Amino acid sequence: RAKFTILDVRARFEAGEPFTMLTAYDYSSAKVCEDAGVDMILVGDSLAQTMLGHGSTNGVTMDMMVHHAKAVAAGAKSPFLVGDMPFGSYEVAPQEAIANAIRYLAEGGMDGVKMEGGVKMAATAKAIVDAGVPVVGHIGLTPQTSSSLGGYRVQGRTAESAKALLADALAMQDAGCFAIVLEALPQRVASYIVSKLSVPTIGIGAGPHTAGQVLVYHDMLGLFDAPVPKFCKQYAQLRHDAVAAVRQFKNEVAARAYPGPEHCYKVQTAELRALVG
Ligand code: KIV
Ligand code: NA
Repeated sequence: RAKFTILDVRARFEAGEPFTMLTAYDYSSAKVCEDAGVDMILVGDSLAQTMLGHGSTNGVTMDMMVHHAKAVAAGAKSPFLVGDMPFGSYEVAPQEAIANAIRYLAEGGMDGVKMEGGVKMAATAKAIVDAGVPVVGHIGLTPQTSSSLGGYRVQGRTAESAKALLADALAMQDAGCFAIVLEALPQRVASYIVSKLSVPTIGIGAGPHTAGQVLVYHDMLGLFDAPVPKFCKQYAQLRHDAVAAVRQFKNEVAARAYPGPEHCYKVQTAELRALVG
């Protein structure tokens, strides 16, 4: 499979053919995405919750993200790989943002980065783009600033807020973002924004009219023990299967049903047999 590039994102967008992005956090989840033919992988800071059990995404550092990014890059060769800029890695100063974005490519094996924010972050997005790093914007429900939004809530529910979101999207487009994630918007607000943009959008809880769709790996596979948002379709219940399998292992060990003869190594030589019986 050929490497998916920003030119392929553009080509799909222009042809009106949807593309897929999924989060991955380590070698094995990345390999699943690779083998399933996913076009783009996001090493999302949602790993704070799915992989580390944190209550929010705000405690993950660049060091932690790069650690996961390296594992993802080892498992996925064809998808376009996007590293999520964690809280605190890009807000303080554009120079710091550029240095952290470059770390993702130089150390983490990523092909581009994603950052939350619109009008207020556009100058920083432009600085990263100008440094030669492809940037995906992220507007709407922005989990890193959910405290200032009053929690995880659908955005763009008033005309005023829909206008502000459009301004955010246009600012990130003008900054040179090659795509923009739209998270948790009424579908008509999302398609209104899509109709005003000339760059592709990637939706999560934003209806069917974005150029691409992104979901969180653990949510769509049913791997996580928390309820999933309304927009997430669960394509499997892997946690349920995992608990059942682990319980069966425990029960079989207790009942001395595991290991069976087929799981045991045999003695190969007569001399050893004579010794150990
Ligand atoms: O961290 C993440 O998983 C994300 C997606 C939900 C877009 O930012
Ligand atoms: Na994120």
